[in-house]
Amino acid sequence: MSKPSLLITRKLPANVEARIQRDYEGIFNPEDRLYSSEELIEYSGRADAILPCHTEHFSADVIRRLPDRIRAIANFSVGVDHCDLDAARQKGIVVTNTPDVLTDATAELTMLLILGAARRASEGERLIRAGQWNTWSPAFMVGTQVTGKRLGIIGMGRVGQVTARRARGFDMEIHYHNRRRLDRAAENGATYHENLDTLLPLSEFLALHCPNLPETHDLLNAERINRLPDGAIVVNSARGAVVDEDALIDALKSGKLAAAGLDVYKNEPAIRPDFAELDNLFLLPHVGSATRETRDAMGFRALDNLDAIFAGEEPKDRVA
Ligand code: DGY
Repeated sequence: MSKPSLLITRKLPANVEARIQRDYEGIFNPEDRLYSSEELIEYSGRADAILPCHTEHFSADVIRRLPDRIRAIANFSVGVDHCDLDAARQKGIVVTNTPDVLTDATAELTMLLILGAARRASEGERLIRAGQWNTWSPAFMVGTQVTGKRLGIIGMGRVGQVTARRARGFDMEIHYHNRRRLDRAAENGATYHENLDTLLPLSEFLALHCPNLPETHDLLNAERINRLPDGAIVVNSARGAVVDEDALIDALKSGKLAAAGLDVYKNEPAIRPDFAELDNLFLLPHVGSATRETRDAMGFRALDNLDAIFAGEEPKDRVA
């Protein structure tokens, strides 16, 4: 029996590409070039399924124009906001994602954002690299202590829950808002807030872990930032779309927020230049899942989903 043909849009870990070579006719992208929509459609002409990342945008128009032989879009990502799921359903294309496997890596990175923003990590590092470290005094590079502070988490799914667990290691007091309340065991002592009105005023640190949905777009806007305590610290490792970036910049400039840590942005990778001008902003380039272990696991999970689809079974992580 001939192997299904698979378009792999980006360079994947060697172990993952080896498994693809064994089980599929892989159409690879060894130069790791970002394809345009036209190229995506053209290269899909030879494939039965696509294994893309969040960097490829499957708008309704792109999905409509995909060849009819495409059976599945098996994402190498947990987020699926780059795919128009309704359009995929209408065209009978199965869409899957890779939950669970990037939870630890993303929660780890959230702690890095919290610590890096609070303790002015990139500012200090830049100073040393520029050869400008020439003093020490009690007033030098003073940041915000993390230990024992209140952490508000918006979105208490897998990543939110592990972030809470890691933050407890810093004796942080956990408060959260989620569409539905967790059971007691999963809550593990965290305080549930049915809405943001009560969560925000006590969040000395605020971590965003909600997906990008129409109802979460610009969720952290000027009005909500104003309800945080003065000197609060905000971190986002979810999606850039959930933060109103103008409002965030204003609050960092005015001192309403002491600092922020971002791994995700509205316009990646061409982020707005004024982000880089702010010393109290700790910036990372969307690397939440970027560990060797996690990237292998994401690839294997995407392939498990494809294997199920081509075996005529229901894939574990179907989202459309
Ligand atoms: C995800 O999996 O959604 C990460 O943001 C990487 O794409």
